[in-house]
Amino acid sequence: MTTGSDWQAQVGRTWAENYRLTDRSFAGLTERLLARIGGCEGQSVLDIGCGAGELSLAVARGNPAASVVGVDVSADLVEAARQRGGALANVSFELADAGSWSPTGFRPDRLISRHGVMFFDAPRGAFAHLRAISAPGAELVFSCFRSPRLNPWATQLASLLELPPAADPYAPGPFAFAEQDHVTAILTDAGWRDVTHTEVDFAYVAGMGEDPVDDALNLFTRIGPAAPVLRSLDAGRRDQALGWMRDWLGQHRSGDLVALPAAAWIVTAAH
Ligand SMILES: C[S@@+](CC[C@H](N)C(=O)[O-])C[C@H]1O[C@@H](n2cnc3c(N)ncnc32)[C@H](O)[C@@H]1O
Repeated sequence: MTTGSDWQAQVGRTWAENYRLTDRSFAGLTERLLARIGGCEGQSVLDIGCGAGELSLAVARGNPAASVVGVDVSADLVEAARQRGGALANVSFELADAGSWSPTGFRPDRLISRHGVMFFDAPRGAFAHLRAISAPGAELVFSCFRSPRLNPWATQLASLLELPPAADPYAPGPFAFAEQDHVTAILTDAGWRDVTHTEVDFAYVAGMGEDPVDDALNLFTRIGPAAPVLRSLDAGRRDQALGWMRDWLGQHRSGDLVALPAAAWIVTAAH
């Protein structure tokens, strides 16, 4: 489980320090998401849980006549996004809970998100609020992970350590929106209609360079579900777990790259 308070504290700080690595991991997905979002010229675009701003910035650069606002609950990530976007006139970033943020003079025609919507404590209320602040005819497009089973980059360590699965699969966290019917019900209850789900499989780039396995281990000790598990182990068990991870990552090395299978949804809905 990863809550809004986790993002406001250490998790957000770590992501802000490492956004180049997460943007690299998600690059294959970002391309697909941007293709689905398509042109936004002349539109107001809201990026929900924008993090360090990669998606907001890409849309703002590609659509100079769009007005893009990224909203995030982590002060460290909003600061990183503002620094990255300083030179662009058509993008800004707000520190707020997207599930209750009430802008003045901004009514989004497009609501977009790369993996920023699975962390709401009360997703039905949040999506109802987002619909209420949107323009009539607005379109929602976001990505989220599919089943943990299809995302071994996130689950392999837990399976090597034989940890039990999460007690509540719908608790806020990376896999809270993995089940299609669950997400459709949330969005429909919140007033959104015509919900669609499209499967996207992509290569999660975990490591690169001269020693891509070491690079990937470095990523997983800092970010993602393996990091808190590794921190919780005593020194001996941690070394053993790192050894297992190293072997497993080595099996996925191809030249100067470690890329792991990853599975996401692109979800769309209409106002
Ligand atoms: C997995 S990260 C994705 C960040 C960014 N969209 C990206 O692709 O790099 C999830 C993001 O959602 C943000 N977040 C979580 N709960 C939120 C909320 N209630 N309102 C706004 N942002 C939230 C986190 O701070 C974090 O930046």
